[in-house]
Amino acid sequence: MTQDELKTLVGQAALAHVAEGEWLGVGTGSTVDRFIDALAGIKDRIRGAVSSSERSTQRLRERGIRVVGTHEVERLPVYVDGADEIDRRGHMIKGGGAALTREKIVADLAERFVCIADESKLVDTLGAYPLPVEVIAMAVPQLVRRFAAIGGRAVSRDGVTTDNGHVMLDVHGLVIADPPALEAEINQWPGVITVGIFARHRAGVCLLGTRRGVQTLVF
Ligand code: 5RP
Repeated sequence: MTQDELKTLVGQAALAHVAEGEWLGVGTGSTVDRFIDALAGIKDRIRGAVSSSERSTQRLRERGIRVVGTHEVERLPVYVDGADEIDRRGHMIKGGGAALTREKIVADLAERFVCIADESKLVDTLGAYPLPVEVIAMAVPQLVRRFAAIGGRAVSRDGVTTDNGHVMLDVHGLVIADPPALEAEINQWPGVITVGIFARHRAGVCLLGTRRGVQTLVF
């Protein structure tokens, strides 16, 4: 199976985790695109979606799925999203699609994070994928120096402005041995809006697309 077919497989498998009659949190990315396509087939079984990006909002609406803001939702049982890397404890790197801030907000609202990913995303230690960080432009020079001090090489993502109007940094060369600690540390740095380590908001379950089928990892 191709990587694209694995994404389609896990997108369909995630339907089994959707809470009927409830609002659903929807992430962003090519894997989530496949999930949204599958969701269209059962759209009458959910109240609607809280979306994490303009991209997903457009795709959801094109398929006739109602999208509402966070202010309309008191309870969000499930959030479905992809990842750039996931470790064996459910910690993730996210933000490859520059949607990490809204993704973390919706994940925070949700009771359960269902990660959908192909097997290339499963790693022993996070960090081979450059860590995305959404930042305030004014702080870029000093943040580049802070990342250098912990062994990272931060570069601005060319031509990218987030849905929130901010800059993306990608930090190369980190070996993230303790994701909760590094997430907490970077969150303290002035100018950081959101760091793409999802440790506090880690996955509860991961549906991993493998050549032998969908493997379910529970954390
Ligand atoms: C977007 C994300 C995505 O979930 C992540 O980049 C994975 O994307 P894809 O499913 O296209 O591999 O965090 O900000």
